[in-house]
Amino acid sequence: MFDPTSTSNIPADLEAFWMPFTANRQFKAKPRLMVAAQGMYYTTNDGRQVLDGTAGLWCVNAGHGRQEIVQAVATQMSQLDYAPAFQMGHPIAFEAAARVAKMFPGDLNHVFFANSGSEAVDSALKIALAYHRIKGNGTRQKLIGRERGYHGVGFGGMSVGGIPTVRKFFGGLLGGVDHLPHTHNLEHNAFAQGQPQWGAHLAEELERIVALHDASNIAAVIVEPVAGSTGVLIPPVGYLQKLRQICDKYGILLIFDEVISGFGRLGTGFATDYFGVIPDMVCLAKGITNASVPMGAVVVREEIHKAFMNGDENAIELFHGYTYSGHPVACAAALATLDIYDREDLFARAASLAPYWQEAVHSLKGLPHVIDIRNLGLIAGIELEPIPGKPTARAFECFLRAYEAGILIRTTGDIIALSPPLIIEKSHIDQLVNTLGDILRQL
Ligand SMILES: Cc1ncc(COP(=O)(O)O)c(C=O)c1O
Repeated sequence: MFDPTSTSNIPADLEAFWMPFTANRQFKAKPRLMVAAQGMYYTTNDGRQVLDGTAGLWCVNAGHGRQEIVQAVATQMSQLDYAPAFQMGHPIAFEAAARVAKMFPGDLNHVFFANSGSEAVDSALKIALAYHRIKGNGTRQKLIGRERGYHGVGFGGMSVGGIPTVRKFFGGLLGGVDHLPHTHNLEHNAFAQGQPQWGAHLAEELERIVALHDASNIAAVIVEPVAGSTGVLIPPVGYLQKLRQICDKYGILLIFDEVISGFGRLGTGFATDYFGVIPDMVCLAKGITNASVPMGAVVVREEIHKAFMNGDENAIELFHGYTYSGHPVACAAALATLDIYDREDLFARAASLAPYWQEAVHSLKGLPHVIDIRNLGLIAGIELEPIPGKPTARAFECFLRAYEAGILIRTTGDIIALSPPLIIEKSHIDQLVNTLGDILRQL
C-alpha cells in the first residue's frame, strides 16, 4: 500500500517481474513507480505529482480514477464474475457489442471481442483469411501491412507490422506477407501542421504489390490510420481514400487498426469518421474501457459476418475465440466508459482543443535538436536529431528528465509522442509544453 509519508515505496524484490518493452536493468537500478492516479495526474512512489502526457499508453482517454467505472466493475463482479464464453452467453456482452457497433457508420455492425490490441489484430487477420476461404477464394492468403506499422505482438500482428526491432528476434514470422512503404518523409513534410500534403501517391504502391502477387492471392491490407507507436505518422491528405479505392478495385479487405486512434483521440469517435473512409474491419482496444480492464474488439462489416452464417445451424461458424472474449467485467467497464464519453462529450472536447494543442506543440519549433513536429487531434510527435552512433539515446534522456520534472511523455526511437487524456485543460497543455521546452533547451 502506498504510504505518502515514506520516501521510498519501492518493493524489496524487483527481480521477479520481467518488465515488457522495458530496459529492465536500467529501470531496476533507478525505478520509476506510479502508485496512484487521479484526473490528469499520477502520484509517484516518492509522492510527486506527474502530469500524464500520454494517457498511460494511449489508453486512459477519460482521465484517471473514474468512479463510474469503478462502481460498474464492482457491481458486475459481485453479480456475475464470469460465465463461459463458448456456447454460453451473458446479457452484458450483447449490450456492449451493440453499443460499440452503434458508434460505427455503414454496415460495420458486428463485434468480436478479444482482450488486447494484439488479439484484436490477430482476430481480424484470421477473420479475413477465413472469409475469403468461405467465399470460395481460398487462394487469397497474403496479408499486406506497412513499414513502420505496429499491430501488437502476436505472430500475425508482428508479421504485418513493420518495426525491425519488434520483428528481428522472432524468426521467419508468417509467410505470405508483404509491406507497403511508410509515409514518413521529413524532406517533404517536416513541421506540417495536421495532415501533410505530400505523399498520397504512396498508396499506389499497393498497385505494384497487386501486380507482383496478383489480387487473387491477397486477402487484406492492414494499416493504422494514424501510426502511433512508430513515432506518430500522420497520413498524407488523400492517402487512406486511395488505399480504400485500390482495395475495392481488387476485392481486398481493408482493416484499420484503430487501437490508438479510436475513442476520440482525433476529435471524432474514430479515424474512420475523421477521414471519411469506411474499412471492412476495425481493430479496437485501449480506450474501449479507459484502460481499466483489458479488452480488445474487432468491428466487422455485415457482409463479412453474413458469409460465416451459413451451413448447419448447429455448427460453430468461426473456430476462434478467447476464454475471456466479452468478459462480463470488461463489458461493464466498456459500457461505463462509453457513458462517460457521451455524457462529457469528450470526443468533441478533443476536437475543440486540437487547435490550441497544435499551436502549443509547434511552438517548440526551433529548439535544439528538434527536426520535426507533427500533430493531429490530441496527438503530437516531436522528432529529435539522434546523437551520432547512439540512436534513441537523446529521446530517452529527455524522457528521464521529463519524469523528474513532473511530466510523463513517451519516446520511441528519437521521437517524443504525446497523447494526453481528452479531459486535458489548456493549463495542462501549457505545463506539458513549457516543461518539455525547458528540457529541450538544456538537452
Ligand atoms: C495500433 C496498435 N495496434 C495494436 C497494439 C497492441 O495492443 P496491445 O498492447 O493491447 O496488445 C497497439 C499498442 O500500442 C497499437 O498501437
